[in-house]
Amino acid sequence: MRVLGIESSCDETGIALYDSEKGLLAHALYSQIALHAEYGGVVPELASRDHIRKTLPLIDEVLDKAKLTRSDIDAVAYTAGPGLVGALLVGAAIGRSFAWALDIPALAINHMEGHLLSPLLEDNPPAFPFVSLLVSGGHTLLIDVQGIGDYQLLGESIDDAIGEAFDKTAKMLGLDYPGGPILAALAEQGTADKYDFPRPMTNRPGLDFSFSGLKTFAMNTWRDSEQTQQDKADVALAFQTAAVETLAIKCKRALKETGHKTLVVAGGVSANKALRARLDAMPHLEVYYPRPEFCSDNGAMIAFAGAMRESAMVKQDKPTFSARPRWPLDELSPP
Ligand code: KG4
Ligand code: ZN
Repeated sequence: MRVLGIESSCDETGIALYDSEKGLLAHALYSQIALHAEYGGVVPELASRDHIRKTLPLIDEVLDKAKLTRSDIDAVAYTAGPGLVGALLVGAAIGRSFAWALDIPALAINHMEGHLLSPLLEDNPPAFPFVSLLVSGGHTLLIDVQGIGDYQLLGESIDDAIGEAFDKTAKMLGLDYPGGPILAALAEQGTADKYDFPRPMTNRPGLDFSFSGLKTFAMNTWRDSEQTQQDKADVALAFQTAAVETLAIKCKRALKETGHKTLVVAGGVSANKALRARLDAMPHLEVYYPRPEFCSDNGAMIAFAGAMRESAMVKQDKPTFSARPRWPLDELSPP
């Protein structure tokens, strides 16, 4: 089965074609970073309008790359949530209309399930069960994964998501949008052990996270410093080290609690080199990640999730579709 994947939940239009037998055939991504940069963050209405402009040309680009035509597509998978509702509705409307016009099935995919399954697109994929750490701009989740659609929430952030904390700290330091990767690059110039930031919620039991206090700690440290370029790099490094250490401590705890020996990390922040180095150094553990380009939002993970749910691909008789700004992973069920 050849599945067309459409991702439009935030500021990236991602399109891909995945073949259940041959694997990923082609993919294309358009990032709206330049569009939102002057506002310092994503402007939802501008995001929706840009997805409208980019989705169909990107579908044609992916078909060209795969040397296929529209009639070669067997099913459509589109992101239906969680995310910005207007942006989601663009992908849902186009995905459903496309399927209706071609008389093929279409399936609503959960964006976080897309991230969760993205490491399975690689050669040598992880085997179930495993603990999944999902770290993105909107989520920090620890999930016990028994199989496709069998997800139990172990812990989550009670305030800012980890990517959001990176972005807000970066903004406070005067770095450009999107701040996460820029802060991570700056941290490489930081002096180790110059500052020691707290590891929030690690000295009490449980698997939840809180990152807003860490962000404030970084802000106060920066305010009280002489604000040189070196101070900026030192604050960036101290923030990143504390954030990474906090994630590692909770991953270790989740693995102990579940008894799983495999950790799978995905989402935008899984591209962070310091996080990868820290987790890779954990003994008696196999850690899996997506390739760097599939850490952040992309169409490949949505097409793949659709292919994994092939049995749920049924033609719709009603001309209706919906999007869900919130859609917890543990509401899903196996295909
Ligand atoms: O998964 P994603 O592309 O979008 C969401 O679903 O949210 O994640 C984007 C987030 C942003 O907060 C971005 O700053 C962060 O991932 N990010 C990073 C790095 N690369 C992306 N954070 C820290 N270090 C990085 N290298
Ligand atoms: Zn995402």
